[in-house]
Amino acid sequence: MKKYNNGEFRVKDIDKEITVYGWVNKRRDMGGVIFVDLRDRSGILQVVFNREYLKDNFELAEDLKNEYCIEVIGTLSKRTDSEINLNLKTGDVELIASNLTILSKSESLPFNIYEDKEINEQISLKYRYLDLRRNKLKNIMIMRHKINKAFRSYLDNNGFIEFETPILCKSTPEGARDYLVPSRINRGSFYALPQSPQIFKQVLMISSFEKYYQIAKCFRDEDLRADRQPEFTQVDIEMSFVKEEDILFMAEELIKHVVKESTNKNIDYKFPRFTYQEAMNKYGCDKPDTRFGLELQDLTEILKNTSMNVFANAINNGGIAKGLVVKENKYSRNEIDRLTEFVKIYGAKGLAWLKYDNNEFTGVIAKNLEIEIQETIRKELKVENGDLVLIVCGVPKIVFSSLAALRLKIANDFNLIDKSKLNFLFITDFPMFEYSDTEKRYMATHHPFTMPESIEKLNKPEECLSVAYDMVLNGYELGGGSIRIHDQKMQQEVFKALGISETEAQEKFGFFLDALKYGTPPHGGLAFGLDRIVMLLFGTDNIKDVIAFPKTQTASDLMCEAPANVDNNQLKDLGISIIKEGKYES
Ligand code: AMO
Repeated sequence: MKKYNNGEFRVKDIDKEITVYGWVNKRRDMGGVIFVDLRDRSGILQVVFNREYLKDNFELAEDLKNEYCIEVIGTLSKRTDSEINLNLKTGDVELIASNLTILSKSESLPFNIYEDKEINEQISLKYRYLDLRRNKLKNIMIMRHKINKAFRSYLDNNGFIEFETPILCKSTPEGARDYLVPSRINRGSFYALPQSPQIFKQVLMISSFEKYYQIAKCFRDEDLRADRQPEFTQVDIEMSFVKEEDILFMAEELIKHVVKESTNKNIDYKFPRFTYQEAMNKYGCDKPDTRFGLELQDLTEILKNTSMNVFANAINNGGIAKGLVVKENKYSRNEIDRLTEFVKIYGAKGLAWLKYDNNEFTGVIAKNLEIEIQETIRKELKVENGDLVLIVCGVPKIVFSSLAALRLKIANDFNLIDKSKLNFLFITDFPMFEYSDTEKRYMATHHPFTMPESIEKLNKPEECLSVAYDMVLNGYELGGGSIRIHDQKMQQEVFKALGISETEAQEKFGFFLDALKYGTPPHGGLAFGLDRIVMLLFGTDNIKDVIAFPKTQTASDLMCEAPANVDNNQLKDLGISIIKEGKYES
């Protein structure tokens, strides 16, 4: 068995006779003496193959190529002062080889393992086993392990029990599209892969386990983004006999522990909290990045009395106006025009702007906007010479989403983000429902088992809040959860508000509704996106970097080449025939 870690040898180990294993990271042939950087998971040790000491084996050393897997026996020796390599942790020692065995050869490589250079993503994913040998992915995987371990140790120390719940199950209530698995034995029936273990963990509370956790695989067939994978991992948590405050307290403690254990950083502030509405008003979104300012300012009251119809009409029709101030503006006129195109992507009709120079506003709207209104804007928004005011007016949803995106773009354009910061926060008081234009009904913002603020408020779905919360880090939703309904009547009322009939509820969640009847404790919980935590703590913005075998934007695994066609006999067993695109008739 391999006994040593190559990266751990130090001067205290000299004169030891050792056997080491690893991969040839790089070799230098100096004629008669060959130097090899021998790499294993822990690091690199320089091995010296000298014809004098390696009589029979020297030809083998001459044959070595990058990524050959080898065994070397030798004596550890101290390097002379002039040979010390300060870039290597083992830089003041080297192994003088007395024997070499090639365990396995390597073909020539699609990219160099020893270089940290970015490689094409397709190549990285196809040859994942090679990219995982390189420093970046290796370090991320080690960090992921530490993060997992830190979650487990905190939860274990605090009385949580780790569970495993089924992967082949029935559709869960998160609301994305399911991945389905056809049943051979029950022809025509399908399992759904869990979008989260939501119902199982609630059932475990009913089963009186009180504190549950699971590092759980979740599957969601949804549009993929830089922070979304079809198959991802949650640290899923549930507790009985708790209130919202207890869960937020635990979640904050837990994350501080994880950050400390994995990065050695102390998060020494209490996580700020914003209600959903406060976050929307200030940042235009429910996962604000607070590492920079550029907060949104409300201009609805100020602009509602202007004679400029673009503003007045929109506001009188229930719209809002919001703006943000770019201090010491450096955008040129052309660049401001491009910002207008940018906000249009989010549905904004336009971007109004005012530049303040030499104590007066300039720009197209400055000519038409009443001077008193301009003065109020200047005062309220504390505009100074050199500043630029950007305004979007219209339907709240569009105003918020376009300005939230614009805020982020400006911060990136002018390098306003301090990348060393970890800005955690909580968002609370989410709306209970959101109206779906496609479904033409109210949907649960979180999921249908979330506790509403009160049973009475269910009659006013637009206003009804829920006891749901998210944890946010640097503009990403790290985790989310809620206090659950544990009362039958409340659950029925929520289904009613969601337009879910009793029959449909029985069909979808019958077993769960039955379980609720047997002394359900008050309970609540949350789930963290483990991949996102690794991503943010490592400092990458690509979720694929933190998953050993991730999927592409089109949900394919380039290494295994999945998804793939299956044998006709397999389809026959399942009673499935494939209909070519465009031919399906329901
Ligand atoms: P939710 O759907 O908010 O809640 O998911 C919890 C967290 O999981 C992460 N996440 C994802 N990460 C990567 N790729 C995805 N496609 C993806 N989708 C979600 C996010 C998110 O905050 N059952 C509830 C939790 C609960 O109520 O306890 C749930 O799944 O970081």
